[in-house]
Amino acid sequence: MGWTSRPDDWGDQVGEQARARCIGILTSGGDCPALNAAIRGVGKPALSLHGMEVIGILDGFRGLVENRTRTLGEGDFSGILTKGGTFLGTSRDKPHRMPITDGSEVDLTAVAITNYRRLHLDCLVCLGGGGTMKNALRLMKQGDLRIVGLPKTIDNDVWGTDVCFGYDTALTIVAEAIDRLHSTADSHHRIMVVETMGHNAGWLALGAGVAGGADVILIPEIPYNLDCVADSLVSRLRRGRRFSIVVVAEGAFPATPALAEGDPEGKKRKKRAQAGEALASVAGAGGVGAWLAAELQQRTHLEARVTVLGHLQRGGTPTPADRLLATRLGTVAADLIARGVYGVMVAIRGRECVPVPLEEVAGRLRTVPLDHPLIETARRVGTCLGDE
Ligand code: F6P
Repeated sequence: MGWTSRPDDWGDQVGEQARARCIGILTSGGDCPALNAAIRGVGKPALSLHGMEVIGILDGFRGLVENRTRTLGEGDFSGILTKGGTFLGTSRDKPHRMPITDGSEVDLTAVAITNYRRLHLDCLVCLGGGGTMKNALRLMKQGDLRIVGLPKTIDNDVWGTDVCFGYDTALTIVAEAIDRLHSTADSHHRIMVVETMGHNAGWLALGAGVAGGADVILIPEIPYNLDCVADSLVSRLRRGRRFSIVVVAEGAFPATPALAEGDPEGKKRKKRAQAGEALASVAGAGGVGAWLAAELQQRTHLEARVTVLGHLQRGGTPTPADRLLATRLGTVAADLIARGVYGVMVAIRGRECVPVPLEEVAGRLRTVPLDHPLIETARRVGTCLGDE
């Protein structure tokens, strides 16, 4: 179904359905900047423009299963645009595999569906990544729930949208960190390894690495050759560049024969995950960044240090760009619901904001295509991507 970006077409594209009077909002998965901006973007028009009741579901799907909710009023959406995190709370819990006190997991999908009905919800807005969309689709199929999704993650790897909110803020944080690390690397003539988040996709490492002028950028999509990386650093040294910045995504790992070629849709995710896990076990508690720094120091005889940015990349106030994106996606979600359009995720395609069927999104990963312009850009400014 070729969705147009014209709201007036949307109602026709799915047919008129009963108008929503009461909606639920939940945030699920890892938090990210601009979640509150997105909640606000949905809640304000839903309340004031469409006259809906808005119920906040606390701590993701766990709150739906445990029936922990809060009726939201205008005051709840005030003053949150610039606040990081999610005032509703979040969790990584899934209805069909809900952890219970003894550590086992129980399928509580039926409970989630029952509570959706008990709350008299006409639609559930789910802010999350690929996993959240998959869990939302499961509820839609099993309980005929009306769902609208919004794509969030600093990893920027949700299928079906060109960009997720949270990404721009994380990229800014990482680029600023790289800027700061340049001065100390230069003073000590060192290799500074910067480990970023990004388990399965390298958008954050690639974008921030190019923005920060990194000399090496290693991403999960391009399993790297350690000797090739070391040679690029030694070659820099020979050209008088006595320090280097190496950005490595936490999910990046050395090439193995089975994974040498690219993997645009993440279809080899299982194999990559296995290779990544294998590396993680080799790297040990220090993580891949520390392991890489030690390996490069040993190969180049240059001092190497590591900075693991961790959850700093997910914290704090969102950039204006993320606030804009989250507000836009949120208001379109409210508009879709008012028009009776469900079972979709609101996505950005080019400059347009369009609804994409959840079936298209769920369970898929948007990894960096090997022919992506940003890969070419990095190569053109002499960045080593570990493969040549
Ligand atoms: O949300 C995505 C992400 O930030 C990944 O990049 C990272 O590996 C993971 O979440 C960390 O998860 P947690 O916050 O549960 O440790």
